[in-house]
Amino acid sequence: MDSLTQKILAEYESVQYPGNAFTQTHPDLIAVVAARAGMAAPPVENCRVLEIGCATGGNLLPMAEQMPQSKFVGIDLSPAQIRYGQSIVGELGLTNIELCCQDLMELPEDDGRFDYIIAHGVYSWVPAEVRERLLEVCQRHLAPNGLAYISFTTFPGSVHNQIARELAMFHSRGVADEEQLVNGGRGILRFMLQNAVASPAYRKMLHEAHEKMTHAAWQYVCHDDLAAVCQPFYFWEFMAKASRAGLEYLGDTESKGMWAGSDDPLRRKVMEVSNDMVECEQYMDFLVNRVFRASVLCRQGAVPSVAQGDGKFRQALFASGNPTERPSAGDPGGVRSVEFSGIIGKVELREAPPIAAVRHLKKAWPRSVPFAELVDIALGQSPTFLRRAQVADALWKVLDLCFALGLIDFSTRPRRLIADAPTPLPKATAYARWQAAGGQLVVNLRHVGLPLDDDVRRLLPLCDGSRDHPALAAALQQENSADSPASGGRTARRSVDELLNLLVSLHLLLKN
Ligand SMILES: C[S@@+](CC[C@H](N)C(=O)[O-])C[C@H]1O[C@@H](n2cnc3c(N)ncnc32)[C@H](O)[C@@H]1O
Repeated sequence: MDSLTQKILAEYESVQYPGNAFTQTHPDLIAVVAARAGMAAPPVENCRVLEIGCATGGNLLPMAEQMPQSKFVGIDLSPAQIRYGQSIVGELGLTNIELCCQDLMELPEDDGRFDYIIAHGVYSWVPAEVRERLLEVCQRHLAPNGLAYISFTTFPGSVHNQIARELAMFHSRGVADEEQLVNGGRGILRFMLQNAVASPAYRKMLHEAHEKMTHAAWQYVCHDDLAAVCQPFYFWEFMAKASRAGLEYLGDTESKGMWAGSDDPLRRKVMEVSNDMVECEQYMDFLVNRVFRASVLCRQGAVPSVAQGDGKFRQALFASGNPTERPSAGDPGGVRSVEFSGIIGKVELREAPPIAAVRHLKKAWPRSVPFAELVDIALGQSPTFLRRAQVADALWKVLDLCFALGLIDFSTRPRRLIADAPTPLPKATAYARWQAAGGQLVVNLRHVGLPLDDDVRRLLPLCDGSRDHPALAAALQQENSADSPASGGRTARRSVDELLNLLVSLHLLLKN
């Protein structure tokens, strides 16, 4: 093991990485990216997943519980993190997940093939030779139509973070204690912000860096910003290496409004400069000052070239979403055009067929709707001379843009697990109940980590499918008064029914 990797190992042995789930790493979303690119992905309900650098397994554990037919293997360098993860696996009694202490550099060649390989937050945080091996491992261990997810920090957006990192590292040089290192970094950024004699642009950069470093948990700052290695890359540099390793780019799972679908006007402009996919992505990164990528790759040649633009795979997708609807500014009556918006983006729709389709999604929420059902809806609003294929094509372009802007989700399967109303015997996953009892973020049935308020946190562990609503109310009342007699009134303010509805809206309750 080289000295840099030894340092990385020591850092994680001493400070554990907070074990979270990351929506953008879910095989289902990775499969959606493949479908959009015209490739058939391995079915997620019955697949083999390898996560490299899995820390305590916080990303794989909820997947393993929710996809019992699939098999999960997580490897990590740090024995302390793996031991902690293994203790949770044992507590939950999961049999389809294995967490192993394993240096990626020594992964045996005969360790099998995987349908999905996930490496989140690893590539930019390991030495050059480990990065190279990561790409080789993906190529070597992917099934023929397998998909790899690799995230990394990118230039140009990370230039500012690099300056803040250099400043903090310079200020705290020689400091061994990790928490002190982080506090020192936060302090010097604050000092610079208050005293910098520089352009407004530089001050703005310091302000943003200070906010980022101050609001994140110190463990994240320690491992993400002030780690022994933290190296951003230009997308083209990453792809040059991936390509040498025999991997091909399909798309990204994380948009955050930084890029949009193929029908996005900005992307169309970029395509006037280049129609090479990698170059186009690089220009987009410059345009939006991109900070991070969550890229999906396959083995070279796995995408049949004729399949590009073939709608077969996308037509098998399901959609779900509940964007806010309001009349467009130019059409206050909302007769001809409507604006749909989400947290990161909005679109103005002017045609009746896509408006009807998005409204159908809103009505069905949280149910996921097959694309074919949405085409039926759009067809009902279209002129009769249009063929179904034409309507489907036009609808796809709009929905794809809505997806890229974060207004709707796509999925390769119906989301059967999510309850759309409180069930008679409410039940949450064992992992969510375990997390709520431990006071961490809680992962919902869409693989999103959620902070919960105290009332919900108390109720969730009780939702194990054995109690009806009155029994839950009684148990909650008992918990509240045992904790502090004065808090007995809390359940009166927020009834169990109200809290159960909240659990439903947070997608924390199982259907049956
Ligand atoms: C920034 S953390 C990310 C953890 C997790 N993927 C997440 O995003 O929450 C990087 C992880 O990679 C692991 N790691 C670093 N070098 C490794 C290597 N050579 N082999 C296996 N794991 C490694 C570290 O121990 C650490 O848990």
